Amino acid sequence: NVKVFVVASKLFPQVELTHHFLVYAQPTEAETAVWNQVSAVLEEAHGILAELQSYNGAGQEIREAIQNPGDLALQEKAWNAVCPLVAKLKRFYEFSLRLENALRSLLEALTSPPYAPMQHLEREQALAKQFAEILHFTLSFDELKMTNPAIQNDFSYYRRTISRNRLNNQQLEAENEVNNEMANRMSLFYAEATPMLKTLSNATTKFVSENKTLPIEDTTDCLSTMACVCRVMLETPEYRCRFTNTDTMLFCMRVMVGVIILYDHVHPVGAFAKTSKIDMKGCIKVLKEQPSNSVEGLLNALRYTTRHLNDDSTSKQIRALLQ
Ligand SMILES: *[C@@H]1O[C@H](CO)[C@@H](O)[C@H](O)[C@H]1NC(C)=O
Ligand SMILES: *[C@@H]1O[C@H](CO)[C@@H](O)[C@H](O)[C@H]1NC(C)=O
Repeated sequence: NVKVFVVASKLFPQVELTHHFLVYAQPTEAETAVWNQVSAVLEEAHGILAELQSYNGAGQEIREAIQNPGDLALQEKAWNAVCPLVAKLKRFYEFSLRLENALRSLLEALTSPPYAPMQHLEREQALAKQFAEILHFTLSFDELKMTNPAIQNDFSYYRRTISRNRLNNQQLEAENEVNNEMANRMSLFYAEATPMLKTLSNATTKFVSENKTLPIEDTTDCLSTMACVCRVMLETPEYRCRFTNTDTMLFCMRVMVGVIILYDHVHPVGAFAKTSKIDMKGCIKVLKEQPSNSVEGLLNALRYTTRHLNDDSTSKQIRALLQ
């Protein structure tokens, strides 16, 4: 655990000092190229979250339009309210693709031979930190999406309107912005309970399946090591007392849950098996001890977005802890 302490203290202190989401450990020269690429993506993350947070939807306009199908003015009003919202949803979706590329670059850098995962985390702290920030963003985004039913409501109204007009041979201008193919892809994205996390876990799975020469353990060990760093941070009093604000604690909790879920999707037997390199019992326990409103959402993420929780190989104890 001594090594974990060293890495943990280097990965997390800046966050405590500034209370800010986007603060980076300084990249070394070797890290710079990837760091710059990821940094450009992360810089947008804050704005995306703010936009999602203030996403109110067009529920009222849509309801009125549906209740008065003959009133053309109300149809137009709903349509005009929905279009800019769909443009927003498109931006979020497109951001998920950029995030996916960023994750790919980080995975490549953090697993490249000949170093072991812990060595990578020591050598490439700035990249490890960016990885943590991506996960933090992802869990935050999905938490907001999950509690906002307007998103799917707006989007399906948009699609229904488009297809109705297509039947009437009317071409809507908005189709140029979100064409049918894009709408299909967005539809699959927003149908996921946790779309960003799903994007990342798909991307991680793809990464390990494409890089056949790279042992899968190199990737999963990187994830389990990060889970360990976070767990130790949360359960060690001398670290916890340095969490001067709940943001840092939340950051640590989200990153831990994020890497567990990725691990569970990528590793053949998953995170809950006895052979798992993640101490799931420890992680769940420490999560439950945190005084935060977000704990339940994170436990739900473990319950409902992992793949292997319901496998026979999952111990009764872990099942009970998550019940
Ligand atoms: C993840 O991959 C599955 C299977 O290939 C696919 O059905 C799903 O739409 C993907 N989800 C996202 C958000 O990329
Ligand atoms: C993984 O595969 C991609 C493309 O298939 C390649 O560019 C990259 O170098 C590979 N990375 C590793 C670590 O093998």
